[in-house]
Amino acid sequence: MQTALIILAAGQGTRMNSDRPKVLHEIGGAPLLAHAIRSGWALSPEKVIVVAGHGAGEVTRAAKAWDETAEVVLQAEQKGTADAVIQTAPALDGFQGDAVVLYGDTPFIRGETLEAMAEARAKHDVIVLGFEPADPGRYGRLVMQGDDLLRIVEYKDASEHERAIGLCNAGIMMADAQVLAELVAEVKNDNASGEYYLTDLPALARARGLSAGVIVCDEAETLGINTRAELLAAERIFQENARAAALEDGVAMPAPETVQFALDTAIGRDAVVEPHVVFGPGVTVESGARIRAFSHLEGAHVSRGAIVGPYARLRPGAELAEDVHVGNFVEVKNATLAEGAKVNHLSYIGDASVGERTNIGAGTITCNYDGVFKHRTDIGARAFIGSNTMLVAPVSVGDEAMTASGSVITADVPDGALAVARARQDTKPGFARRFMDRLRAAKAKKE
Ligand code: UD1
Ligand code: MG
Repeated sequence: MQTALIILAAGQGTRMNSDRPKVLHEIGGAPLLAHAIRSGWALSPEKVIVVAGHGAGEVTRAAKAWDETAEVVLQAEQKGTADAVIQTAPALDGFQGDAVVLYGDTPFIRGETLEAMAEARAKHDVIVLGFEPADPGRYGRLVMQGDDLLRIVEYKDASEHERAIGLCNAGIMMADAQVLAELVAEVKNDNASGEYYLTDLPALARARGLSAGVIVCDEAETLGINTRAELLAAERIFQENARAAALEDGVAMPAPETVQFALDTAIGRDAVVEPHVVFGPGVTVESGARIRAFSHLEGAHVSRGAIVGPYARLRPGAELAEDVHVGNFVEVKNATLAEGAKVNHLSYIGDASVGERTNIGAGTITCNYDGVFKHRTDIGARAFIGSNTMLVAPVSVGDEAMTASGSVITADVPDGALAVARARQDTKPGFARRFMDRLRAAKAKKE
């Protein structure tokens, strides 16, 4: 069965009190929208359609950054959740399969829950996700008759009797894509808000002789974000879940409560993550690697046996092969370090390649930026870069070559060569003492 994901993300999110569209606020280093898209991946969707409105340009960029197949359709005016789904009709024209509607501001829906909904489609034409909140508040209520969902009634439109129902609408709905398109076109806005409610669908389906059913999930999954306080609470929940999942996957973490994960952090079994490590988006740490305390990683790949930190910074494009060491106060950006390479102290390695077993001395800098362009530094295998070498890119250092400490390397160094690029030392015997004596005498005279 083919599946199309529809993610509603047109709302502004007034209560965030922000210029940013609500779905672009982040938890786990990734926009809420990305969380919703990744939940939907559990169904291996053939199509991912995002309905954007407020900040559509930014929402489009974020959608495509997290799922390059995502299509974005516009909802010019936010006239309700059914109106939002109507905008997807052209994108779904001729699509054979199911469509599932997710909300862009609801990040914790589990893949298993969506799979359960897909299975339940064998029994019903329309499946709605329900939950039983501790406080049903203003959620839409699910009016059941046995296993059949008769209709959803929005709180504003509900009678006293209906408001007493504890089973609520989480907002997620699944149906055949063509049926969904036909049903949303029938929705009217004759309700308390004057909006086109997606929640009218179960009743409209039944009016056609189709059936509707419900899958119930945990309230925790349905948490929607409307305010900054809710965003913060969601971040905490996300971090707790991510830490628990990492431990479950066999990652060693002596102080998990101090480690920050991103949505897509991938860490192998028996990797060690020491306290106060921050993972930004796009990090993979392979089995058996060690990330030492207070390191910050984003867009980086750390292979088996590598050691990073303490206090290291890996930026996007940092690619560390097996057994690489990147030590304290070292920053690596857009650079590949081949097997066994070591950069142990106080260095910046950017736009560079470093060959296997090469040792980079303390304080080495790749001077990659001329104020306008970025340039590359290529260092061969088994080379030795002396401490405090400035490598003025574009420049290369060959295999088994050396640079002398304190050198400013502006020309390529061939394989096996030593480059010394610093002033020769001039030593003046007795000079320092004579000089200081003179200065002290001058001072005494003044006093
Ligand atoms: C909705 C449900 C309600 C359910 C609740 C769960 C409807 C009518 N009501 O109410 O039954 O209990 O979610 O949280 O569906 N959006 C658009 N375009 C629009 C309107 C909304 O894209 O024109 C998007 C919003 O950005 C948001 C989502 O749809 O991501 C839900 O809209 P929202 O206004 O939050 O619906 P609720 O009032 O919470
Ligand atoms: Mg809502």
